[in-house]
Amino acid sequence: MKAVWLTDIHLNFLKQKQLDSFLKALSGELADCFFISGDIAEGDGVIKYLKQMSKALKRPIYFVLGNHDYYGSSIAAVRVRISDQTQKQSGLIWLNKVDYISLTKETALVGHDSWADGRLGDFGWSSVDLNDFRCIDELKLWDRAERLKAMQGLANEAAEHLQRVLPMALKDHRHVIVLNHVPPFKEACWHQGQPSGDDWLPFFSCKSVGDVLKDVMERHSDAEMTVFCGHTHGAGECQVLPNLRVVTGGAEYGLPQIQQVLEIK
Ligand SMILES: [Fe+2]
Ligand SMILES: [Fe+2]
Repeated sequence: MKAVWLTDIHLNFLKQKQLDSFLKALSGELADCFFISGDIAEGDGVIKYLKQMSKALKRPIYFVLGNHDYYGSSIAAVRVRISDQTQKQSGLIWLNKVDYISLTKETALVGHDSWADGRLGDFGWSSVDLNDFRCIDELKLWDRAERLKAMQGLANEAAEHLQRVLPMALKDHRHVIVLNHVPPFKEACWHQGQPSGDDWLPFFSCKSVGDVLKDVMERHSDAEMTVFCGHTHGAGECQVLPNLRVVTGGAEYGLPQIQQVLEIK
């Protein structure tokens, strides 16, 4: 089967004409389904864009959300709305809400939004100040210790989800594809062609998820895992273990693009 992988398409930055031509180009792809690893749009607009995509593409869209998808709203409110919508619309599948998808006999798909957790790099020293802390209700926190606690709470949710679903997916499949918004390893945090430094790493990586993925794959040496993520907007690939590969997508605001057409066995 074939899947088109998209990430960080930030559709809210497009004019209607650009959106129409992007959807037209996507709908012409000979793929069976679409993967999106987050940052689809912002807050209230995410459902509107997902519905437009579903209508234009007429094939299943498997997605996770990124930090921008919660901008101008609260994580709790967006999650309720997305959950309601995806229950009503069978072609839109939010991976936070499913255990795993059996894509083929060999390959399963799992995923979770994930969140940067400040556990890599140097959170205490970094002066990076993301818009997340002004644009997402739960993260409007001035105290840095409180910010870190909130980030880690969200990341832990992702890690717990993956810890639960991966053994199920690997029971019947020898390959598992993971969709995450935030890169789960330091080596996967590409930014402008370079690995991210200690100032950005706390906000560009989710170590909690990386620890789970590594642990699971060390115990399943006969299986393979491919992770597709985004968030840093810098493209790159890394091989974390012989059976664990991470592909990070590149992105430019206002210029959404297809990352890869994946041939899935
Ligand atoms: Fe993004
Ligand atoms: Fe992001």
